[in-house]
Amino acid sequence: MSQPIRFYHRNAIQEVSGASTTRTVLQYLREDARCTGTKEGCAEGDCGACTVVIGEPDGNGGVAFKAVNACVQFLPTLDGRALFTVEDLRQPDGSLHPVQQALIDCHGSQCDFCTPGFAMSMFALYEKHGHATTGCAHACEKTRPSRQQISDALTGNLCRCTGYRPIIDAAEQMFDHAPLAPVNVPALARTLESIRRDDTFHYEHAGRRFDAPRTVEALAALKGSNPNVRILAGSTDVGLWVTKQLRDLGDIVYVGQIEGFRHVETTEEWIEIGAGVTVERAYDEIVKTYPELEETRLRFASLPIRNAGTLGGNVANGSPIGDSMPGLIALNARVVLQSVNGTQRHARDAARGSLHRVSEEGHGGQRVRRRHPCANARRQARQNAVPRLQAVEAFRFGHLGRVRRL
Ligand SMILES: Cc1cc2nc3c(=O)[nH]c(=O)nc-3n(C[C@H](O)[C@H](O)[C@H](O)COP(=O)(O)OP(=O)(O)OC[C@H]3O[C@@H](n4cnc5c(N)ncnc54)[C@H](O)[C@@H]3O)c2cc1C
Ligand code: FES
Ligand code: FES
Repeated sequence: MSQPIRFYHRNAIQEVSGASTTRTVLQYLREDARCTGTKEGCAEGDCGACTVVIGEPDGNGGVAFKAVNACVQFLPTLDGRALFTVEDLRQPDGSLHPVQQALIDCHGSQCDFCTPGFAMSMFALYEKHGHATTGCAHACEKTRPSRQQISDALTGNLCRCTGYRPIIDAAEQMFDHAPLAPVNVPALARTLESIRRDDTFHYEHAGRRFDAPRTVEALAALKGSNPNVRILAGSTDVGLWVTKQLRDLGDIVYVGQIEGFRHVETTEEWIEIGAGVTVERAYDEIVKTYPELEETRLRFASLPIRNAGTLGGNVANGSPIGDSMPGLIALNARVVLQSVNGTQRHARDAARGSLHRVSEEGHGGQRVRRRHPCANARRQARQNAVPRLQAVEAFRFGHLGRVRRL
């Protein structure tokens, strides 16, 4: 039986049924919840006008906040999470949040179309440097982000008229003040715990199914019983198939709630990264061992896209311009695949854009492993990491299909 989508928004648990499985969070906000502060510019994750902040359990009893693009996220993926929009910044007495006040004080807005999106990217940064690191309502001097870190956090927001300097000034200045009513993180963590599901979340609308299993075994069973089901991870590719190509995705199985897909482990021999780990978190781990790859992280889309998009999705989409590929190949990555028949390990060729074919045949990419390379391979990584066009040919020709023979 279909269950309602449950998430926290506007100080309450919201329950939604009757929305299409691919209704975007942005459509829900503007057309159903009438929260029209969040804007639509491009509907493809590029401009940042639709930026919202998602809160989810951080595994340590707290809540992790991250900015994402509402225009490419499907509503059922919110189940069990908290959604913050620009409407939430207003304080209980009607006064402004320090993020908003700083934007005004620094003249960070002209036509204002981009401003809610910037405000939410800034809010995510504010929460990250306030609560998470200090337990205070705002950042202490030593935990404040540098100007470069602020610029990196705003890479997903475009402004056509104000110019970025006053906005970056505002993002520095916002840390001078605490909000009247900061987010109560322990209370929010308890609320999220109260709507946590122990089993697969199952949602249906107009004959289309959306399942969010919690275990790898449940995913394998779902994919086994319905081989045509569409695997969905961060939705930064798949979302556009709906918003730009108007495609009907059929039934969807969402892998974003599977614990076994979200682990990151570094041993003496391996860095092992679950397929559901976001690109941003994957790079957090990889650059600890290979700091030279930091540059490729910063070239990968924007922070909100890296916060949603997964490493598994970047491999599985088989894209000839996937930016994780040069690094994965140079680091001799192995791909671990899961199906109803068990687990298979594949040599690095599997990382050359062919996993898509495998997944079409009933597998879900489970995790990517990479062996720490010798100094020579490190040099190779440096050489291969940048030239994107070279990579197109390497992935496109000669390697498709090899995965099956291994
Ligand atoms: C504005 C914008 C900028 C972008 N910039 C870049 C960029 O600079 N570099 C770059 O490389 N990419 C970029 N992308 C593309 C995209 O963000 C990445 O490819 C991302 O890694 C996709 O991951 P996802 O989790 O969002 O995948 P999804 O969109 O959820 O899925 C993509 C494909 O992978 C399949 N899939 C996902 N997970 C699994 C799994 N575990 N097992 C089997 N199949 C699976 C899906 O069925 C689908 O076919 C950009 C996208 C946007 C919208
Ligand atoms: S509307 Fe442009 S990023 Fe979402
Ligand atoms: S203030 Fe006009 S687009 Fe930014």
